[in-house]
Amino acid sequence: MAKFLVLGGAGYIGSHMVNYLQKNHHQVVVFDNLSTGFEGLVLTEQFRNIDILDSEALKTAFNDLGPFDCVIHFCAKSLVGESKTDPKIYYRNNVTGTLNLLDVMLQTGHDKIIFSSTAATFGVPESEEIDESHPTHPINPYGQSKLMVEKILSDYAEAYGMRSVCLRYFNAAGADPSGKIGELHDPETHLIPNILKSVLGQTEATLKVFGTDYPTPDGSCIRDYIHVNDLSSAHFKAFEYIEKHTGAYRYNLGIGNGFSVLDVIRTAEKVVGKPIPFDLAERRAGDPPKLIADSTRAQKELGWQPQFLELEEIIQTAWDFHKNR
Ligand code: UFG
Repeated sequence: MAKFLVLGGAGYIGSHMVNYLQKNHHQVVVFDNLSTGFEGLVLTEQFRNIDILDSEALKTAFNDLGPFDCVIHFCAKSLVGESKTDPKIYYRNNVTGTLNLLDVMLQTGHDKIIFSSTAATFGVPESEEIDESHPTHPINPYGQSKLMVEKILSDYAEAYGMRSVCLRYFNAAGADPSGKIGELHDPETHLIPNILKSVLGQTEATLKVFGTDYPTPDGSCIRDYIHVNDLSSAHFKAFEYIEKHTGAYRYNLGIGNGFSVLDVIRTAEKVVGKPIPFDLAERRAGDPPKLIADSTRAQKELGWQPQFLELEEIIQTAWDFHKNR
């Protein structure tokens, strides 16, 4: 049994991580400032409401509740569109906040961190599938902020012996099949929850497809949707890896299959069993046309294997969560 600190454990991906670790009999402490997370998603009693920008509170909490075998860091501002209109909150939370966290880790003798990174570090793809050697030219401040932290972690590995794994998620989707936790944001901007909320009549406006003139077969953006529980298992494999290896590592996580916005709507229609009305709309700022992962390296080096390979199955788990809320 290991003891983990999950920062951002009240959020969508963080709460699934906590669920995964607890199911596998590990001890979990959660820090979250509940700015975008929900107390109802915190699955452990060991919870502190802490902002990573508050270094003093962070250090006190590390001393009170640590030591931890590994820190898993999900706290971030993560909306591509918002990062274009208000970049300062992205750089402050994602970069300054992480620097604070790393300072506290160094001061308290913690040397292992798994960091939530993103496909948004790559920018517009220069190849069909994106592997770890693909150039990184982010086209939005969100992707820039995550790439900055990736570089910081490389330098910290060399200078201070900090061990790290940056996991570049493509599009996190779905929910734990228990239906107890799932994707919740307020406001919601993500495609799959927006589709399902429109089906449930929980949105005021009709669902919109942002952009129909992209260089893709049907003109809408293509993304690689990966089940949130498969992300959790990758984090655990990453922890096992840095237990054995020093250094800073980066892996891309997706299922290697792309679906357009219109494909996702059609698949959701099958899951919910009825037509889903939508409007065609302008492009959303900061959206790359197509993002598909090549996750071969994560599979080979970490021994990770995604279990949810069908989009229909992924959307079904999201639907099971949303329809019962
Ligand atoms: N979209 C719509 N209508 C909606 C919502 C989204 O057409 O109501 C479109 C978007 O324009 C985009 C696609 O659906 O083309 C996916 O959008 P999401 O908002 O679901 O996800 P993003 O691809 O923008 O971003 C997500 C994460 C980021 C991460 C990125 C990496 O939110 O943190 O995946 O691929 F960086």
